[in-house]
Amino acid sequence: MAGKLQRPKGTQDIFGDEIVKWQYVEKTARDLLTAMGYQEIRTPVFESTELFARGVGETTDIVNKEMYTFEKEERSLTLRPEGTAGVVRSYIEQGMSRWPKPVKLFYFGPMFRYERPQAGRQRQFHQLGVEVFGLDTPQADAEIIRRAMTLFETLELPELSLELNNIGTPEDRENFKIGFRERVKPHLANLCTDCQARFETNPMRMLDCKVDACKAVYATPDIETYLETDFTGEESQRHYKSLTDILTVLNIPFKRNFKLVRGLDYYTKTVFEITSTHLGAQNAVCGGGRYNNLVSMLGGEPTPATGWALGMERLVSLLPGAPKQALDYYLVTDQHARAFEVAERLRAEQGKTIDIDLTDKNFGKQLEAANKRGAKFALILGEQEASANQITVKNLATGDQTTQSLSDLNWA
Ligand code: HAM
Repeated sequence: MAGKLQRPKGTQDIFGDEIVKWQYVEKTARDLLTAMGYQEIRTPVFESTELFARGVGETTDIVNKEMYTFEKEERSLTLRPEGTAGVVRSYIEQGMSRWPKPVKLFYFGPMFRYERPQAGRQRQFHQLGVEVFGLDTPQADAEIIRRAMTLFETLELPELSLELNNIGTPEDRENFKIGFRERVKPHLANLCTDCQARFETNPMRMLDCKVDACKAVYATPDIETYLETDFTGEESQRHYKSLTDILTVLNIPFKRNFKLVRGLDYYTKTVFEITSTHLGAQNAVCGGGRYNNLVSMLGGEPTPATGWALGMERLVSLLPGAPKQALDYYLVTDQHARAFEVAERLRAEQGKTIDIDLTDKNFGKQLEAANKRGAKFALILGEQEASANQITVKNLATGDQTTQSLSDLNWA
């Protein structure tokens, strides 16, 4: 006998009550974003490996450890670990720089990271993301944060917090390298080998380390004070101040987290994460920030941009309840040809949702099925009703039933 096949570790089948929640989130987000002028974009699930190496950054865990990479015809290809790099590639390749600014895009789709699976962390997961091109203004950062918050409020997600930081321009980061290295150097022997390598290649990455011993070093007063005095220049600080002024007026609470650097290398100035206390260790539901140099790094004209992505699995797990799929009518019948005709008319002329019982079971069993489906009314169409051109309409909540003419569909 052939063995039972299982899905790969770190992946999920999404179906049943769960898929109803996904569809609800997707519809809510799509309506909200298109109303604000965002356009959907669908890019390939795999791209050239080089795109992510250059875009996400050679020193990130994503590129170093987590990519699903394969070769075809001597080309190295990678399943996308995130959406931004592909959207930027498309922005450049499709000439969107000629569109009126800002160019506002959004996407849904699966992403792939070879991580150790645990609650809230999969190897295939899904993101909803937005990217706004063409503006280097704090109000563009405020707009995308407002959009995420509005979505979460509409979906009634409980207790979220916004953590914000400013990691400055590449020039600011040259100052950071000097200042941070100087303070970390005495502790170098206590750090993990990854951090020792990051010390040389990309010191800011060290702040994203999850190893306790490293975190303890970065929590020493000398280093914390250094981070809190803000190494960034005047222009970055002004940007941050204007953004926080807008958020305050918008009544969006935030907390500055001086250690928030994010796991991707393309950010400049603003970075943020939206977390929930209900998610356990993997508590970030949404993350993003500004990336003013990515378009030019990938070969386009210099174009400032800002965006975020949220984890669909994590978001869906926070939803208060599954929205009920409303069903107006359940048709109980042994006259199927006639029943199909009635159902089509009810759909087309009255816009009703309707399901037809397709079994040959007796009407008692069919009525049980109507109740299980949660229909508001059962329509009963037997031989007697059909020949009299009538139908029985039964209110499944009260049990009341009336006989109606089949010519007039306006029953309830
Ligand atoms: P990210 O922080 O790597 O950012 O991912 C965004 C969100 O995706 C996370 O906050 C989390 O909810 C979800 N996520 C990430 N990895 C996993 C996983 N292994 N399992 C389940 N959920 C996960 C980005 O990807 C950037 N591209 C966001 C962005 C867009 N920045 C600018 N524009």
